[in-house]
Amino acid sequence: MYRTHTCGELRASHIDHNVTLCGWVQKVRDKGFVIWLDLRDRYGITQLVFDEDRTSKEIIEQVKTLGREFVIQVEGTVIERASKNPNILTGDIELLVSKITVLNKALVPPFTIEDKTDGGEDIRMKYRYLDIRRNPVKDKLIFRHKVTIAVRNYLSNQGFIEVETPYLIKSTPEGARDFVVPSRMNQGQFYALPQSPQTFKQLLMVGGMDKYFQIVKCFRDEDLRADRQPEFTQIDCEMAFVEQEDILNIFEGLTRHLLKDINGVEVGEFPRMTYDDAMQKYGNDKPDIRFGMEFGELNAVAQHKEFNVFNSAELVVGIAVPGGNSYTRKEIDKLTDWVRRPQVGALGMVYCRCNDDGSYKSSVDKFYNQEDLAQWAEATNAQAGDLICVLSGDMNKVRAQLSALRMELAERLGLRKPNEFAPLWVIDFPLLELDEETGHYHAMHHPFTSPKPGQLKMLDTDPGAVKANAYDLVLNGNEIGGGSIRIHDKETQATMFKHLGFTSEEATEQFGFLMDAFQYGAPPHGGLAFGLDRLVAILGGQETIRDFIAFPKNNSGRDVMIDAPAFIDDEQLKELSLKLNSTK
Ligand code: AMO
Repeated sequence: MYRTHTCGELRASHIDHNVTLCGWVQKVRDKGFVIWLDLRDRYGITQLVFDEDRTSKEIIEQVKTLGREFVIQVEGTVIERASKNPNILTGDIELLVSKITVLNKALVPPFTIEDKTDGGEDIRMKYRYLDIRRNPVKDKLIFRHKVTIAVRNYLSNQGFIEVETPYLIKSTPEGARDFVVPSRMNQGQFYALPQSPQTFKQLLMVGGMDKYFQIVKCFRDEDLRADRQPEFTQIDCEMAFVEQEDILNIFEGLTRHLLKDINGVEVGEFPRMTYDDAMQKYGNDKPDIRFGMEFGELNAVAQHKEFNVFNSAELVVGIAVPGGNSYTRKEIDKLTDWVRRPQVGALGMVYCRCNDDGSYKSSVDKFYNQEDLAQWAEATNAQAGDLICVLSGDMNKVRAQLSALRMELAERLGLRKPNEFAPLWVIDFPLLELDEETGHYHAMHHPFTSPKPGQLKMLDTDPGAVKANAYDLVLNGNEIGGGSIRIHDKETQATMFKHLGFTSEEATEQFGFLMDAFQYGAPPHGGLAFGLDRLVAILGGQETIRDFIAFPKNNSGRDVMIDAPAFIDDEQLKELSLKLNSTK
């Protein structure tokens, strides 16, 4: 037996017990007459003690040869510590060591393996296995495990069956590019890795599985951000014989259960907001509603004066920044520079101070009198002491810009509290979205989403206005899940593909299998998928998913530890009948 206990287990009740521990040498403190060694494993740290009176010379000599991160096994007696450490669970005791076995030596690690490390992101990713020994990383992986187990148990108890679907498939359109895998046995042909198991879970419904879930890897070749990885995990779910309401209730139940079980937070019924309202009030389809700062549209009160910038704008819209009147002119100028950065893209910002005496002072006083500005304050719900920030321009752009400013200011004002949870259903998404570059419509969610009942005909006359029973679950300003009621008959699916610009041959070639299946008794069905990485990160009080993934990719999609992607041998290329690599 390698060990009788872990390094996090021993307490005062173990005093005088003989035990064996295994772990990594975290730190050695040699005071001459006495040496202390911190031994670490996944469970904690136990202090080992060696002193001239009670430890043999050989062992003391041996301790002196141990370096950081050596893997050792020690035998000894648990004794009471002279000076206790209330900061660690094993702080009442120490181990008087009678035998050391070195299980493996270690090179000096490239960064300190302690909670506060001197290692930068790049080096920690290259040696991720060392990073995982650190509490902040290890704890996040354990946290993820807890969430995952809670999800499995909850769904299984609700009658959901976990079914695995294949990874080597044909393209599923979820809006990103596919990662493809060449087939050796079918020369010149490629599998695609699934962007999601969407079509398979629908086929499981045709197969009568009725309540399906899967905790599953998905692959999307898209630009990466803090909340996006090229491979990520979904809690993918589908149900038959359900309406939108049933789905929202089940997954609201799951989310509420997780908040209670994992975070100890009770939340009431989740509010619901239509997509249109979310865009109008927050300029965003995933609003963070932990704080106010709702948009106030100012067209009616700010246009048709002498200020041409506003007159020529499609939308004039503002937010009230709580306490913002205390900003100096310089601070406001900096804010203006912030919205003008290319990442935000506003042309400029108009502001209005709401003074404590009820008067207003704006950057456009030339054009607006006190009554006008009082109307701005009313529309943005600004109070005395606030600052109204106003942007104008093309509606979609200006909403996105003001939304970015709202989030930035909330961050600066400390309004995005990680331990406060504000879930929100955003419902009634448009079925289609216009690609401004190509002028074509594409599916806002995916092509299998059903238009709202009775709106199919509108696809011919006003495609942009067609709404879907499609919904997102938003938590603290992050989209943690999304889904829809699906089309379940061949004709509607064929019509949908036609509107998305597929010829009927293309539709049959790519999705004939699904449309065929719909002819064999497809039940009405719908579902949703949570992004597990995002869900875990947010429950863990953060927004960067990388920290909650054991071996994440960097922003260029590289795994810097194993150095992937990489070139492959000419031999392998030949076998796959791919072009030989001359640039290697
Ligand atoms: P959707 O594309 O909205 O829906 O994805 C579901 C959820 O997955 C998460 N997510 C991601 N997380 C990390 N990195 C990424 N690159 C990434 N992309 C998406 C988000 C998102 O809400 N098949 C449909 C679901 C359905 O209709 O049932 C789908 O995949 O949290």
